[in-house]
Amino acid sequence: MNFKSFKICVFASGRGSNLQAILNAIDNGKLDCEVTFVLSNNSDSGALEIARSRNIPAFHLSEKKFHKNSFEESLMDLLDKFNPDLIVLAGYMKLIPEKVIKKFRNRIINIHPALLPKYGGKGMYGMNVHKAVFNAKEKISGVTIHLVNEKYDEGKIIFQKEIDISNCKSPEEISEKILEIEHQVYPDIIQKIIEGKILLTEDAGQSKN
Ligand code: GRF
Repeated sequence: MNFKSFKICVFASGRGSNLQAILNAIDNGKLDCEVTFVLSNNSDSGALEIARSRNIPAFHLSEKKFHKNSFEESLMDLLDKFNPDLIVLAGYMKLIPEKVIKKFRNRIINIHPALLPKYGGKGMYGMNVHKAVFNAKEKISGVTIHLVNEKYDEGKIIFQKEIDISNCKSPEEISEKILEIEHQVYPDIIQKIIEGKILLTEDAGQSKN
């Protein structure tokens, strides 16, 4: 059979629950791809632990340890070696170097725990997002999946789901409610991309450059 499996790599900075959801979906036959490697800027990231526990190559690569150029080169070397079809950001808190964006244009996606363009941009990550949403007394928040370009949270939106948070009494409750949905929708959307049901093209009319 001439079957080429779809290869993704996952970049994460934190606990890695979205990586876990992706791996669970693969195990359950809902997601038809292979995670070829996991990368983190944080040596303590749970995502690295999850990957190692499953013998998935796991790399800690931090700009702090390198000059900018050699960081970019090391990252490019990894990408050249594993040659993923799609780069999946799952709680990765660093900007993706321009060189990588150029080479993987329209092949990098990110999940954001709010309804972009609201509550996005530099500094809007993790609990900061949910605190801002809570303080603004929003009744609805949600999940956004978008293409990644040179700026934080500004690539073309490919999926959004609104979530009623009117009963949430703290940023933590909002975070919990939204994370549960992230775990459902991220594997689903990746599968739709694999099947060609979602086409990744940065349509100039829709991107926010
Ligand atoms: C998620 O809320 C994701 O939307 C955001 O960072 C969080 C990562 O969580 N970008 P985890 O590391 O996948 O558990």
